[in-house]
Amino acid sequence: MSESISSQRTSVRYRSRLLQPEADRHPDTHPLTWRLRDDGEVIWLDEYLRKEGYQSIRNALDNGDPQAIIATMKDANVRGRGGAGFSAGLKWSLTLQGGDMPRGYLICNADEMEPGTFKDRLLMEQQPHLLIEGMILGALANNSFYGYIFLRGEYVEAARVLNRALDEAREAGWLGASINGSGFDFDIAVHTGAGRYICGEETALINSLEGKRANPRAKPPFPGQSGAWGKPSVVNNVETLCNVPAVILKGADWYQALSGDRTDDGGSKLYGVSGPVEKPGLWELPMGTTGAEILERAGGMRGNRSLKAWLPGGASTGFLLPEHLELPLDFDTVGKEGSRLGTGLLTVVPQEQSMVALMRNLEEFFARESCGWCTPCRDGLPWTVKLLWALELGQGETGDIELLDKLAADCGPGLTFCAHAPGAAMPLQTALKHFRQEFEQGVSKPRGKAHQDPIPVGEV
Ligand SMILES: Cc1cc2nc3c(=O)[nH]c(=O)nc-3n(C[C@H](O)[C@H](O)[C@H](O)COP(=O)(O)O)c2cc1C
Ligand code: SF4
Repeated sequence: MSESISSQRTSVRYRSRLLQPEADRHPDTHPLTWRLRDDGEVIWLDEYLRKEGYQSIRNALDNGDPQAIIATMKDANVRGRGGAGFSAGLKWSLTLQGGDMPRGYLICNADEMEPGTFKDRLLMEQQPHLLIEGMILGALANNSFYGYIFLRGEYVEAARVLNRALDEAREAGWLGASINGSGFDFDIAVHTGAGRYICGEETALINSLEGKRANPRAKPPFPGQSGAWGKPSVVNNVETLCNVPAVILKGADWYQALSGDRTDDGGSKLYGVSGPVEKPGLWELPMGTTGAEILERAGGMRGNRSLKAWLPGGASTGFLLPEHLELPLDFDTVGKEGSRLGTGLLTVVPQEQSMVALMRNLEEFFARESCGWCTPCRDGLPWTVKLLWALELGQGETGDIELLDKLAADCGPGLTFCAHAPGAAMPLQTALKHFRQEFEQGVSKPRGKAHQDPIPVGEV
């Protein structure tokens, strides 16, 4: 009895996430989700094998040519789904291997702490073997001897499912020594993080994996040259790796064609929406689907609300306006509008929402999650929060908004060790650009002494 109640609960939670019924998802158009069931139960090994599972790795092991995997990935131009959109094939081609080079690590970035993002969780909780197969292919291509899934600590259910699936794969000979008699050894462990946003930055992740404080590392060297424990290491996002089996099985041309003439970026994408819409959730759609179409699938804004602004891919992306809804959501198009595709999960902002309060909330998050390594991020973000609080309470001073402009500019690309600070700056800069008058309404006082006088040396 108690089991059926808990599985009911599980199913209800899952159904609220992927909002496309099984009948609408097909192997040729929905490589990431066609196997998922309407009841939301996990696709364990037996079912995965019945649904073309491990077919791709079987073929790749038979061919025995890692360079062919890299070439196909490059031709398909699978762009990283962790947010930066860097070509996975290109990254793999730059990993040092061969000669005296030691075999390295294949690391799956499953930290998923970007606010408004919940796509990797679905893949891990319901279809763990797709990720495992993608990681084996990645390991084969990059000559990795061991894999880690660096998992957000709160994803307890994903950890349970992944660990059980890893046991299944090991028992069936898909992991461990000489996979399927091929002579290729590879195994995977799940490593749960302690729950810090910065652990999602790939080099901070590697430090954390090594048991060190999660500060980003200076690049170069890039992880592909010297990563975990000094060995060549490839870090890829969950969704990126889940694309690999179908790309290798069906080829680069098939993958490219998935997005039709919507965009030059191929493939499909797990898009989603959160915020006050009728049906928040996830959909696997062609890359380059417009915001309007995604919002329509979500049933539009809830109640009588109207859309004021939206973030296209998490809190670290820039605000777009309703007029941007018709743009294809791909990496380059969104970039040209002063934002980023990021994780591709939209956060909608209703008309009545104060942008000042919203920005104060977001910057509190970014300030709290700073690792403290660089001054503009460590000191600038708490200062930003202080100014935003004052503006929100209507107690801002003349010059506060210009100061916000400056603090955000100081966090710009290339000025700090990692992309956390630019990620914190982008929503603020775009909010100031599109909704400046809301910030101005919070200014009620002349410029105060605190802003005019520098802190005397020795009194800090
Ligand atoms: C502060 C910060 C947090 C990040 N969090 C994640 C994350 O949770 N998951 C992720 O895949 N990438 C995250 N990234 C991006 C990674 O550094 C890296 O680019 C990505 O894992 C590479 O995988 P991909 O090429 O498959 O996208 C983050 C970056 C920054 C700066
Ligand atoms: S930008 Fe922020 S999070 Fe990134 S290294 Fe510097 S202080 Fe740390």
